[in-house]
Amino acid sequence: MDFSRFDKRNYPTHSVQDGYGAWAATYEDIVLDAMDLRLLARIQSVAWDHQREAADLACGTGRIGVWLTQRGVPAIDGVDLTAEMLEGARAKGIYRNLVLSDLRATPLQPASYDLVTVSLADEHLPDLHPLYNEAARITHPHGYFVLVGYHPFFLMSGIPTHYNSASGEPIAIQCYVHLFSDHLRAALAAGWSLLEMHEGLIDDEWLAQKPKWRQYEHQPISFAMVWRKPHP
Ligand SMILES: C[S@@+](CC[C@H](N)C(=O)[O-])C[C@H]1O[C@@H](n2cnc3c(N)ncnc32)[C@H](O)[C@@H]1O
Repeated sequence: MDFSRFDKRNYPTHSVQDGYGAWAATYEDIVLDAMDLRLLARIQSVAWDHQREAADLACGTGRIGVWLTQRGVPAIDGVDLTAEMLEGARAKGIYRNLVLSDLRATPLQPASYDLVTVSLADEHLPDLHPLYNEAARITHPHGYFVLVGYHPFFLMSGIPTHYNSASGEPIAIQCYVHLFSDHLRAALAAGWSLLEMHEGLIDDEWLAQKPKWRQYEHQPISFAMVWRKPHP
């Protein structure tokens, strides 16, 4: 579903490349680890330090790559559509390869990764099937796919992914709403099974960093899903 039917902010809306291209320099000052890293830390079913090769789709400035490196993943390839975000990832010096590409059709080799991740990007895709298909294509037969997303309930409350431009104007980035049933349908069609799921709420940790969000207290803001290809 297009986000516009839920939009309560009506900010000017930019494409992924224009929006993240302009946001890249300040992105890490804004995004909170509580959104995604906190959920990754709750995951039990993936032994991170046993994953030898990982692909981080929509790697952005490399926050997930840093997190995986700290947990012992030795080789991580990153893919992103926005050159300015990739430059941030390159500056971290932790990725084996970085590729400027759409995550829905990457040049990554088939069946070559133990783990594929995507964090905070699925809301920019009009359809989830190409994401789950591409993750399935590049993952080993028993590999994992970990997806962290902006929660559909929160998007439906009318707040798009957005940032403030250099002149202070709020800019939204083109968003779509995917229900959990949309995820399940696309994932099952691509051959994935769901192992684990978590939801992150606006809680005391969030409010300590964003006190203005008290009106959203207890609402779910993000989610994490762990998918695996079933054993044959
Ligand atoms: C909110 S950032 C998340 C970056 C990083 N995963 C993180 O957690 O910090 C969203 C990223 O998704 C990327 N992106 C959005 N649509 C994409 C697509 N179709 N293919 C590749 N990257 C995409 C954007 O360029 C941006 O870097």
